[in-house]
Amino acid sequence: HPYDQSGVWRFRELFPFATSPSQVVTLGEGNTPLWDAPRSAHYAGLKRLTVKHQGLNPTGSFKDNGMTTGIAQARRLGARAVACASTGNTSASLAAYAARAGMHGIVFIPGGRIAYGKLAQSLDYGAVTLQIEGNFDDAMRLVRDLARTTPLYLLNSVNPFRLEGQKTIAFELLQQRRWQVPDRVVVPGGNLGNVSALGKGFKELHDLGLIPRLPKLTVVQAEGAAPLVRWYAAHRVGNLLPVNRPKTLATAIQIGNPVSWLKAVRALDWTDGICTTVSEQEIADAKAIIGRDGIGCEPASAATVAGLRRLVSEGLVHPEEDVVAILTGSALKDPDFTVQYHTGQLFTDAERETHLAYAEGHLMST
Ligand code: F0G
Repeated sequence: HPYDQSGVWRFRELFPFATSPSQVVTLGEGNTPLWDAPRSAHYAGLKRLTVKHQGLNPTGSFKDNGMTTGIAQARRLGARAVACASTGNTSASLAAYAARAGMHGIVFIPGGRIAYGKLAQSLDYGAVTLQIEGNFDDAMRLVRDLARTTPLYLLNSVNPFRLEGQKTIAFELLQQRRWQVPDRVVVPGGNLGNVSALGKGFKELHDLGLIPRLPKLTVVQAEGAAPLVRWYAAHRVGNLLPVNRPKTLATAIQIGNPVSWLKAVRALDWTDGICTTVSEQEIADAKAIIGRDGIGCEPASAATVAGLRRLVSEGLVHPEEDVVAILTGSALKDPDFTVQYHTGQLFTDAERETHLAYAEGHLMST
């Protein structure tokens, strides 16, 4: 059964619900590679760095891991239409899985602010694609209100069935490493569902006695969209204050009011984790370096390597730590960003040249 070829459903004994094979809609999600990234490691100041590339999922992002379990629940409930707000990847994934399941997909995206590859996907998969006037946080509010008053089944990561599938990224990662727990796992932070899911996954394995300790979860946000980092900087007092006009070229994580922030804090508390910010230039440079490893990713994913570089230079990450970075999305998602970067349209030539010279120099020396 295709069930067993899924990198998510093969861990089904660790889900808190039973599913019959007829309810499962799978595109063979998960099963993503773990690669050594020596140039990225050197760039970040680490002895070694491994990346798990979730961009090799069927729709090109880590969202597929959670979408397959979310859609299974929608089927169990007899939903005919599923919906989400998205910065592009959730919507691409929802559109594909809804199409496979024979359901209506309805996606709300911030008009003009998502990468073209992602927009193209939801159109081709046949979802009703609604570009709203406003940002992701506005779209999120809109679709949550709608889901309360209509039969639309909400498939954002506020839906716990999404997080169940997404937690298997932790399982697969450990299985690939023969259950050797890394010191640290780094993710970009947007709506904060991913770090919540990974925290749950690692904690459950620890509670079951399958691993002796937890990796320190580390969240990297873009400077212009960093409500979580700000909350920590304000000594964790009160509720998270939303960033009203979140701004970053890494549009996937252009989010000011992350719905899963409390779960994310819990995950960081469980694992002794930390969070940090990175600049636009740092994200872009790190992305080009990841490319030089023959790997590549979308801008948001590159925040991981940029964040590591910052944390190592600040002494918060030790150069000898055993670190895994989760690359959340494919390099093909946002070609505009990449071309603009390499043709000098994003940053001044001087900055770019310094960086590329560095990359060349290192290329020669390895
Ligand atoms: N990286 C990529 C490529 C993403 O698409 C997202 C989120 C994140 C990182 C952040 O993950 O939200 O779990 O903290 N994308 C969502 C979307 C918001 O709508 O596609 P997170």
